[in-house]
Amino acid sequence: MKKIIITGCAGFIGSNLAEKLIKTKNFVFGIDSFHPYYKRSIKEFNISQLNKNRNFQFLESDIRKIDKSVFKNKQFDICIHLASTPGVLSSINDEESYYENNVNGTINLLKNLALINTKKLIFASSSTVYKDEKNSFFDENKTPTKPLSPYGKTKLRCEELIKEWSSRELSSFVNLRFFSVYGPCIRPDLAIYKFTNRINNNIPLSIYGDGQSQRDYTHIDDIINGILLTVNYISKRKNISATFNIGNGNPIRLIDLIKIIEKKLNKSAIIEYLPFNDIEMYRTCASLKLVSEKLNYQPTINIENGIDNFIEWYKKNHILYNY
Ligand SMILES: NC(=O)c1ccc[n+]([C@@H]2O[C@H](COP(=O)([O-])OP(=O)(O)OC[C@H]3O[C@@H](n4cnc5c(N)ncnc54)[C@H](O)[C@@H]3O)[C@@H](O)[C@H]2O)c1
Repeated sequence: MKKIIITGCAGFIGSNLAEKLIKTKNFVFGIDSFHPYYKRSIKEFNISQLNKNRNFQFLESDIRKIDKSVFKNKQFDICIHLASTPGVLSSINDEESYYENNVNGTINLLKNLALINTKKLIFASSSTVYKDEKNSFFDENKTPTKPLSPYGKTKLRCEELIKEWSSRELSSFVNLRFFSVYGPCIRPDLAIYKFTNRINNNIPLSIYGDGQSQRDYTHIDDIINGILLTVNYISKRKNISATFNIGNGNPIRLIDLIKIIEKKLNKSAIIEYLPFNDIEMYRTCASLKLVSEKLNYQPTINIENGIDNFIEWYKKNHILYNY
């Protein structure tokens, strides 16, 4: 049994991850501040089942304010750091508060992990750290980093901080760059949720550009599998410092994504086209060469099957989201 801290545990990825780690007989100490980026009730629902398990302990707290006493002298093997303010577009006019939460939160977390002697860290980074290169696979070692958005800049800054910190206080770290995650318990601000909800309710949806931009959508089960492989990798080795993409490696055009959702709902979208937004990347696409070599990671869920699974969940749960 591994003892694992998850920051941002009540969120989309965190709650799915905690569930899987507990099922595979690990102990999870989850921290979440219920950041108001989206509704608290969704996050409370996400962890409601977990709270019944004795291998799960939850603390409502802000990682910018924690001190070592919150860990109650427990020993932990790994911290998986997911807490942050997410969202590319909403970061445009809110650069300072994104920096304050994401970067300062990470600094305080790192200080406290050192105090409790937790020396292995997995950090949730993002495809948004890459330079917007239209026709290539994003390669961890070859593609330059040049985030367009304030959100992406905070992720890159955290990667750098963790690297600097590792030479003194961490024995191993892995930055995982996630690519457009979707699936059950999705964040309500994400395109797949918004499109599905709007098409289902016959509400017009807005898209930036002509629908030709592409995203490497990755199902949550593949993301969780990638994190679990990383937990294994980092547990068995010493002095790891690595950065891996966790994506699908198969980008889809926005307009094709909408067509798949229309087909699955058997309804038509009403689309309003807006000018392309410069802060959004035109295309994202993960190279999986390194991560398949090192972790044996391979995505298993294509977009058609993934959207089926998402819509099945959406039909049962969208009432909870209430928008
Ligand atoms: N969902 C994606 O497509 C995607 C893609 C790339 C990277 N990521 C990253 O993965 C991580 C998880 O994303 P998600 O989609 O689950 O987002 P989410 O918003 O659902 O989860 C993040 C959680 O962190 C919590 N949080 C925020 N600031 C905090 C703080 N200071 N202290 C404690 N808790 C705090 C929030 O309350 C939230 O529950 C984030 O770091 C995000 O940037 C997500």
